[in-house]
Amino acid sequence: MYNCSLIKFKDITDKYGHLTPIESKIDTPFEVKRIYYITRVKQGITRGFHSHRKLHQVLICLNGSIKIRVKNPKEEEVVELNDPSIGLYIGPYVWREMFDFSEESVLLVLASEYYDENDYIRDYDLYLKEAIKIYR
Ligand code: TYD
Repeated sequence: MYNCSLIKFKDITDKYGHLTPIESKIDTPFEVKRIYYITRVKQGITRGFHSHRKLHQVLICLNGSIKIRVKNPKEEEVVELNDPSIGLYIGPYVWREMFDFSEESVLLVLASEYYDENDYIRDYDLYLKEAIKIYR
């Protein structure tokens, strides 16, 4: 899907467990300026419901499982994240909704810019209006 793809990171496995290193611009398609994580999401909750105009992000489920619905004016997909060595890259003008957070799930997000509320499109009709120019 346009501006949306899975990234496989290293999974260094030994008798002690698993280790995944992520180096900015080497393992990510952008320089990482910000990280945040989402935890303790109650059952049945859906979050997200927005797109960004400029921001690039990689979403990684560090524990448990989480589903992400990604949409543009022409396509829609649901991706389940349940492996800490896999990231979902989401670029500009992709609408996302996160749901089915399993108990104890942890969603880590790597982002290309500092937080900027003006970069968000939170209204789906406005999203369609702006995104249609890119996806036509
Ligand atoms: P939001 O991005 O809307 O979360 P989600 O898409 O997962 O539902 O952010 C929720 C709140 O947190 C909102 O008030 C903005 C704030 N926030 C920050 O202050 N800094 C950040 O880096 C992020 C991602 C959110």
